[in-house]
Amino acid sequence: MNTNTKFLGLDIESPIIAGSCGLTNDISNLEKLEEAGAGAIIMKSVFEEQIIYDIKRNLSMMAPVDNYGMSYEYIAAHVADDSLGKYFDLIKEAKKHLHIPIVGSINCYSFENWMTYTRRFQDAGCDALELNMAVLPYETSLSCEDVDRLFSDIINTLRKSVTIPISIKVSQNFTDMANFMQRLSWMNVDGITMFNKALNVDVDIDKMSICHAPSLSSPDEIYNTLRWVAILSKKLRCDISASTGVHTAADVVKMLLAGAGTVQVVSCLYKNGVNYMKNLNDGLKAWMTEHGFESIDQFRGKLAVKPNEQSSIFFRTQFMKHFAQIGED
Ligand SMILES: Cc1cc2nc3c(=O)[nH]c(=O)nc-3n(C[C@H](O)[C@H](O)[C@H](O)COP(=O)(O)O)c2cc1C
Repeated sequence: MNTNTKFLGLDIESPIIAGSCGLTNDISNLEKLEEAGAGAIIMKSVFEEQIIYDIKRNLSMMAPVDNYGMSYEYIAAHVADDSLGKYFDLIKEAKKHLHIPIVGSINCYSFENWMTYTRRFQDAGCDALELNMAVLPYETSLSCEDVDRLFSDIINTLRKSVTIPISIKVSQNFTDMANFMQRLSWMNVDGITMFNKALNVDVDIDKMSICHAPSLSSPDEIYNTLRWVAILSKKLRCDISASTGVHTAADVVKMLLAGAGTVQVVSCLYKNGVNYMKNLNDGLKAWMTEHGFESIDQFRGKLAVKPNEQSSIFFRTQFMKHFAQIGED
């Protein structure tokens, strides 16, 4: 029995992947994750916002003039090189010491910068790239067509300059989820990661101020991911990497049964330590042994919605007595 599979066309020995987060920003964690059987590792994202912030902070420490003229571009390029340089050094070090695929991750919000930075990930030796394109459509002026255009412009242009596999990590905020995910999969991407978890915000009623909500996911958050993986896994032209709410080996099995190509974990690693990756792998193998499966492909997608299925419990959202089975009158 083995758990070998593919991720973005790359051979991996386990479908369980360490998702992008602060834990993957450290070489000793990367080594521990490989040792514990991670199939691949997604690096912490480089955020364009952070680079712009560093640039502004550096400029503010210089002469207090409004217009830096030609020197602005020079300083900006220097600061960006410095911020990205550390990131690329980590990728190079990881590639020197580890054998599993190392996937770079980038989050940008301006078209021009996506183009400038992404090529450099490939040059640094990444095996693949995950574009963290989770957007919150909070502008009333932003239409579905605008979001659509942003995605397709970025993907089409990137495809011309980057030859390593590309995966798109999306948020849970699409009115036309099924339609848009299918069109994304037709845009020559190698995979879609569903979903990024938004940094949630809460209200402190004593201080009457805004505060951050807990950043880790709860096990209940698996259900939305599970639903969309099951609905879409047989309808996309690329693999789905399932993310958000996977906390146990049983959750990994559920996602694979729903048709996920791979499964990403983050919150459970924060809660239990990076070595928890081994428990997840052991649990997956124990379940496969118990159910007589020799390979992942023997059961992957067994519970996915079939391509022409007209009716599925995954399509239901309303609590009607007949379906909810919770003894309602
Ligand atoms: C502390 C923390 C940092 C994260 N940083 C990133 C990041 O840099 N880039 C990214 O794409 N996702 C990031 N994520 C989102 C995770 O990769 C993942 O999609 C999300 O946590 C849901 O998975 P989970 O339920 O296993 O935690 C972060 C999540 C957490 C909790």
